[in-house]
Amino acid sequence: MGLKIVILAAGQGKRMHSKLPKVMHPLAGKPMLAHIIETILPLSPEIPIVVYAEKASTIPMALKHYPVSWIEQREQLGTAHALLQALPAINDTDRVLVLYGDVPLITATTLKHLLESTPIDALGLITAHLANPTGYGRILRDAQNKIIRVVEEKDASLSEKSMTEINTGIYLVQAKHLKQWLPKFNNHNLQKEYYLTDIIAGAVQESVALVSCRPQFCEEILGVNDCSQLAYLERIYQRRYAETLMRAGVTILDPERLDIRGDITIGQDVVIDINVILEGTVIIGDGCKIGPFTLLRDVCLGQRVEIKAHSVIEGAKIADEAQIGPFARIRPKTEIAAAVHIGNFVEIKNSVIGNATKINHLSYIGDSEVGQSVNIGAGTITCNYDGVNKHKTIIGDYVFIGSSSQLVAPIIIGEGATIGAGSTLTRNAPPYKLTLARVPQATIEDWVRPKKVT
Ligand code: UD1
Ligand code: CA
Repeated sequence: MGLKIVILAAGQGKRMHSKLPKVMHPLAGKPMLAHIIETILPLSPEIPIVVYAEKASTIPMALKHYPVSWIEQREQLGTAHALLQALPAINDTDRVLVLYGDVPLITATTLKHLLESTPIDALGLITAHLANPTGYGRILRDAQNKIIRVVEEKDASLSEKSMTEINTGIYLVQAKHLKQWLPKFNNHNLQKEYYLTDIIAGAVQESVALVSCRPQFCEEILGVNDCSQLAYLERIYQRRYAETLMRAGVTILDPERLDIRGDITIGQDVVIDINVILEGTVIIGDGCKIGPFTLLRDVCLGQRVEIKAHSVIEGAKIADEAQIGPFARIRPKTEIAAAVHIGNFVEIKNSVIGNATKINHLSYIGDSEVGQSVNIGAGTITCNYDGVNKHKTIIGDYVFIGSSSQLVAPIIIGEGATIGAGSTLTRNAPPYKLTLARVPQATIEDWVRPKKVT
């Protein structure tokens, strides 16, 4: 007897008022549905099923890297109808764990708890008490506190609405029961939908035992029906992530002002200032300082690297003790060696920068190889693009480039060369020589300023 996990993700998500299918709206930079898939994958060796809408047929393509099987629900007739589409792909002897694609924070711990506390022949469900249960289906219990059914908000009477125990939409039940019950459901309710919640009343009628479990933390079962709820869950996610990092020793100056949208590895004695966004895969080594208002996307930092305020760094590897910013922009395919200083208003793209090199002010370095202990003066530009193709600039070790120079690529500046300020170089510069390419300075002795003609 296997465990088959089914995620219902075909709903139209009307309340999002969006062309993007609801379950594809990102939470912490990743579609809600992807969060749930990642949570459930380790729970069963069987391939999970995701029920999706034909209209949202871009979903399987967008999430094709996940090992799930996709089943279409052609018309969105309700949650029971959605699960019905998946039943032919499930063995009668299986147990089925059902989740909704718009409840993205659910944790594996809570799901394992449900799996462990539900006897094989019982129906298990996760319920929670919410201070504001508006919008959720309410759990109705009898005088003996036994669950009798679920009533949707829209169909509920005033006294039913005052109940605060809600249905999370997560159920564990034998496939044979679903196959027996679901085809018999009707849509005689206000939304004219086939409600999966009717399995609860079904179980009561057939004397199948009901087991209800509580979530590990109550916010994980919150659903997303509109953009406001999505933003609320985003804050919960971020707060929890920051909490985990702080417990592991990361100094976060304000956990409310840190956003993590990816997989983050952080070493010891790291300090993160306010309004920092970490995206994609970010590795931060021991002793690093991340300044305020910085964005790091797919970045690997060595040890004691300092990223100063307002820097945007993407697709870069930065070695020990480098100092970047303030106001630096590092673009993809950049490798910065140890002890390099990159200063304000410097843009670097697809380049390798050698040890202890300094590029401190107002420069553009693109498609370049820069050696070690190079000094690049303010306003230096590598002219890497001729309007059609990109070309490479190679700058040897110990080069000194005077301010406001343009290096027209392809070009090689030999080791130890000095380039006079204001040069526009179109040919290679030899090593250990001073090379200048600028109009010589002249003073016109007998020049007089023009006078206004009256
Ligand atoms: C549902 C529950 C409600 C519960 C709440 C928890 C029902 C009838 N109601 O309400 O008791 O408190 O979730 O968040 O189940 N879906 C389909 N096909 C459909 C309709 C929906 O796949 O035809 C999917 C949606 O994509 C969504 C999930 O099922 O992921 C729930 O649907 P939704 O319309 O959001 O239900 P709620 O009104 O939130
Ligand atoms: Ca919902």
